[in-house]
Amino acid sequence: MVDELKPGVYFVGALHPDRRLFDKLIPLPDGTSYNSYLLVGSEKTALIDTVDPEKTEILLNNIDSVGPERIDYVIANHAEQDHSGSIPAVLERYPGAQVVCNQKCKGMLIDHLHIPEEKFYIIEDGQELSLGDKTLRFIFTPWVHWPETMSTYLLEDKILFSCDFFGAHIALDGVFVEDKERVYNSAKRYYAEIMMPFAIPIRKNLEILGGLEIDMIAPSHGQVYRDPSFIINAYNDWSSDIVRNVVMIPFISMHDSTRVAVDHLDRMLKQRGIKTLVYDLATADVGEIAMGLLDAATIVFGSPCFLSGIHPSVANAAFIINCLRPKTRFLSMVSSYGWGGRASGQLQEMLPLLKTEMLEPVLIKGLPHKEDLAAIEALSDKIKEKHDGGALR
Ligand code: FEO
Repeated sequence: MVDELKPGVYFVGALHPDRRLFDKLIPLPDGTSYNSYLLVGSEKTALIDTVDPEKTEILLNNIDSVGPERIDYVIANHAEQDHSGSIPAVLERYPGAQVVCNQKCKGMLIDHLHIPEEKFYIIEDGQELSLGDKTLRFIFTPWVHWPETMSTYLLEDKILFSCDFFGAHIALDGVFVEDKERVYNSAKRYYAEIMMPFAIPIRKNLEILGGLEIDMIAPSHGQVYRDPSFIINAYNDWSSDIVRNVVMIPFISMHDSTRVAVDHLDRMLKQRGIKTLVYDLATADVGEIAMGLLDAATIVFGSPCFLSGIHPSVANAAFIINCLRPKTRFLSMVSSYGWGGRASGQLQEMLPLLKTEMLEPVLIKGLPHKEDLAAIEALSDKIKEKHDGGALR
């Protein structure tokens, strides 16, 4: 039995609750889902996106339980394999189906899945496709999060099928969002891990969608939003330039000297009314760090000197943070060293995409002395001064 969003609009996707990693990198504490939607019109039937190849059988079984005579169109909003990977199996089962997508997506589907050229039906931005009593409009929403991404809008029912845009890695029973707080956190994690580098195109895409009347947003991960403003407002916030009175401190410590410095910094910032997010990189979840970046006005890395440079775990975190291009305004470092090194310069070199002002780092020989703790207090004062000085907007 499959869920029906509106008459003739079925959820035929698959949950993957025990998947724990995406891209062999991103933790999935709540699993994920691959949402596929079957639209049965009075004349034609369309499938919007498919599922990860691991779940093809579930998709085909779900389609069978709706029981369409045929599938005329397979709409590919996005070429990434967690949505496109079952297209070849659907084409094998329904050989008359055409793959409907934009020109960029076609090239990617040929590259990644070897779908034959003659299977494609190429559409342009704004083009409409009739299923009889249902009409689909294709709206190009590039860079959420690949260049070819688009959304499909069902005019009569005012449903936006947005694929990754507005998605959440979460596998919950029930097709509609009920537990808003839980879904908000998953969607925020998803945005932070996947969408954050594309804040500018996202703002443009939100403007494009602002012209539509939308009753439901049906993404391709997570659940369907019957209250679209809930997720649209969240995206407006996350993609904005606004940062909060928050300092993120990702650190690692080999013999506790850096930990003493980080603990002192944490206490001093809190005393000054600043919220801190402290992550021990030996165990930290990269998704938690990504989420913190949506709020943090300042990042202070904590690293011991390791073979005259920053510790490899800090380098790894810096590499990921640089890729995510957060809106963070200020950067600094506390670092304990034994006999010298260039940890702070190396850190700055690793973050070329961040538009941050570097605040004087605190470099400590060995275990912090009184004067080092005083330097940390001075750094805390400087951060407060910057945050209070109108930098949070
Ligand atoms: Fe869910 Fe970009 O794939």
